[in-house]
Amino acid sequence: MIRIGMGLVGPGFVGAHHIDAVRRLGFVDVVAVAGSSETSARAKADALGVPKAYGRFEDLVADPDVHVVHNTTPNHLHVPVVSAALRAGKHVVSDKPLATTAADAHALLKLASDAGVVHAVTFNYRGNPMVQQARDMIAGGKLGAVHFVHGSYLQDWLLEPTDFSWRLEPEKGGASSAVGDIGSHWCDLVQHVTGQRIAEVLADLTTVIATRFRSARSTEAFATQKTVGTREAFTVQSEDLATILVRFEGGAKGAVNVGQVCAGHKNDLVFEVNGARASVRWRQEQQNELWIGSRVGANAVLAKDPSLLAPPASAYAHLPGGHQEAWADAFCNVMRDVYGVIQAMRRSGARFDARAPRPPAFATFEDGYHSACIVDAVLESHRRGAVWTKVREYVMA
Ligand SMILES: NC(=O)c1ccc[n+]([C@@H]2O[C@H](COP(=O)([O-])OP(=O)(O)OC[C@H]3O[C@@H](n4cnc5c(N)ncnc54)[C@H](O)[C@@H]3O)[C@@H](O)[C@H]2O)c1
Repeated sequence: MIRIGMGLVGPGFVGAHHIDAVRRLGFVDVVAVAGSSETSARAKADALGVPKAYGRFEDLVADPDVHVVHNTTPNHLHVPVVSAALRAGKHVVSDKPLATTAADAHALLKLASDAGVVHAVTFNYRGNPMVQQARDMIAGGKLGAVHFVHGSYLQDWLLEPTDFSWRLEPEKGGASSAVGDIGSHWCDLVQHVTGQRIAEVLADLTTVIATRFRSARSTEAFATQKTVGTREAFTVQSEDLATILVRFEGGAKGAVNVGQVCAGHKNDLVFEVNGARASVRWRQEQQNELWIGSRVGANAVLAKDPSLLAPPASAYAHLPGGHQEAWADAFCNVMRDVYGVIQAMRRSGARFDARAPRPPAFATFEDGYHSACIVDAVLESHRRGAVWTKVREYVMA
């Protein structure tokens, strides 16, 4: 195995999980982190056991020991950080959303394709073994033709007016909040599982909490907000709740509810797919199970047990039946898929071809771009009074 150097820009909530995941692969050295200042980067580097700390992402990108740049900054920094890494010829793993507009995401896709480097977006729920099982069943025709795809992604960490995140500031989070932040995960996941892309949307967006009280100190996602000092009123312009109807390019219809103000729902992502012969349902909070619905026989709950899963899905399960696997394990599966390709490229010296077959949990900038197109279409649909709106995509030159 060739050892690969990883550097991470934006060591906050999810950044620590990127570092944990790549360390578990065994052939990746976490070389450096870059933060918003040298002091904060040094503190994070020490806490995470990373040797180098940079106060400017440009310096991390220029470090010759860094072969792969991970971007886990707030959304508005994705374009500058990812562009700089690509221009330096580094492989890039960016967290979602790839960019806050489809036009920006397209520019990054073009830059990455021209650079010939690996470009990945962490749509991490693809890495769950039971998600891969559902995908395999659908691809293998076990459900028959899919006609309905529905579900929700609900959280409650923004329920109180005193809950605040940079995600709610349009200049940092983008024009969309809940849809861009978590609705994007649901849309990518159901497209991945069904093999059908979302072609049209009809969206009704709501801002339940129109005035929030933000602290001078920024807090991480899911942090408790009790000791934050003085606060100022903030008028929220983006949605914290959304109802979206979707039409898939293969003819299936669908619906999803997205909200971050739904008491009791922590990270409650659910999808159900109904086909001509059977149904499947998966819930992130009970991720070691897949519900299988049947009209002619008994319904079943398939437990995550590598010996019971289809071979493509069992490759994503690393513990025997009854040994629960979870969010961080699925995240690691995504990194295993991405770094497997990077490892092969470093051996062969080949350029990355996003059209070549690759492991399923590996979402590219092409997927990130399509996701940004969906979010743009959702915003446009709502703006025009909740009307059907096509998910427009540029054609790559
Ligand atoms: N895949 C997932 O499930 C998942 C989960 C959470 C967040 N995310 C995504 O990851 C990104 C980060 O989210 P988060 O919740 O970790 O946010 P966060 O606020 O906890 O972390 C962001 C970090 O970036 C740092 N930062 C700010 N400006 C910087 C700069 N100029 N240079 C370097 N670092 C800078 C901040 O100090 C902070 O440490 C977002 O794009 C978000 O959508 C994805």
